[in-house]
Amino acid sequence: MVETRHVSKTYQTGPVAFQALDDVSFKIQDGEFVAIMGPSGSGKSTLMHILGALDTPTSGTYLLDDKDVSTLNDDELADIRKDKIGFVFQSFNLLPRTTVLKNVMLPLLYAGVERSEREARAAEALTAAGLDPEHFHHLSNQLSGGQIQRVAIARALVNNPTLILADEPTGNLDTKTGEVVLATFERLNKDHGRTIILITHEAEVAEHADRIIFVRDGKIVEDRKTHRIESNHE
Ligand SMILES: Nc1ncnc2c1ncn2[C@@H]1O[C@H](COP(=O)(O)OP(=O)(O)O)[C@@H](O)[C@H]1O
Ligand SMILES: [Mg+2]
Repeated sequence: MVETRHVSKTYQTGPVAFQALDDVSFKIQDGEFVAIMGPSGSGKSTLMHILGALDTPTSGTYLLDDKDVSTLNDDELADIRKDKIGFVFQSFNLLPRTTVLKNVMLPLLYAGVERSEREARAAEALTAAGLDPEHFHHLSNQLSGGQIQRVAIARALVNNPTLILADEPTGNLDTKTGEVVLATFERLNKDHGRTIILITHEAEVAEHADRIIFVRDGKIVEDRKTHRIESNHE
């Protein structure tokens, strides 16, 4: 469902051109759990913005469900982001003096879903993300880091996207809380069949996926299955 063909991205800052992605080609099938791993500055976020249809390559082709994203107009791109893709960022940007439930209902408001259904679907997404119902009516600034990240995951799930893109989702969390969040992604993949692309600079985080695509200086240097999937098949 996700395919890049010779994707390159060059940033032009005044007279200086910087190539953040260099001839990146891969395919990710529906239902895969893939980590994109590389050091800081290797082009991971640039790649995620392209995969999320938030940005376009300078050259090469990005196909989402066999459609060349560069041929879509702004309305079609907005529809894709609204219906197909859920984003989880490192800085979660929840509305502070707003309840957990309302934060998760918000994307559905933009999507034109009526109130009672917004509330039901937000509660369902929060449950899927593993947040205890006792927190649903708390204000988001009253939550712990791990709880906030669960709300951010719920917000990414509420539109029922087939593809979840998470950019360093455990970057601001302690190890134990990070493990809980990663277990949530594993469950969403294994039990709910969501395709997950997890971006990280940490090997221990990447090992939670079934496959790791390694990037360095904007290039793919390795693409392999993890031990997790090998041991699952034994
Ligand atoms: N908008 C931009 N303009 C110019 N350079 C950028 C821009 N965004 C990212 N870069 C540069 O591209 C490189 C890759 O950045 P990024 O994709 O954010 O890497 P990562 O997420 O792996 O840390 C970095 O050197 C960064 O400074
Ligand atoms: Mg980044």
